[in-house]
Amino acid sequence: MKIICRCEDVTEEEIIEKIHEGYHSMDDLKRIIRVTMGLCQGKGCRKHIAKILARELGIPIEQIVQPTYRPPTKPIPISATVNK
Ligand code: FES
Repeated sequence: MKIICRCEDVTEEEIIEKIHEGYHSMDDLKRIIRVTMGLCQGKGCRKHIAKILARELGIPIEQIVQPTYRPPTKPIPISATVNK
């Protein structure tokens, strides 16, 4: 069992199961199993989920549309938004 979204405690098996049930986009997965909706807002899982989607759907990863970003609900320093 490999946990992909640590914030929402979602495993790779759960993601694959939902893809095979017909949820074929990042936004679908976000809405049905809350991936990318945790404290890190997908910083820790986005890339992994895109790879799983591309692999399971047999399409290039460039065709995976990333989910919509939401602004933070409270002020944070700009440095917190920069990838390190
Ligand atoms: S690891 Fe998925 S939202 Fe943080």
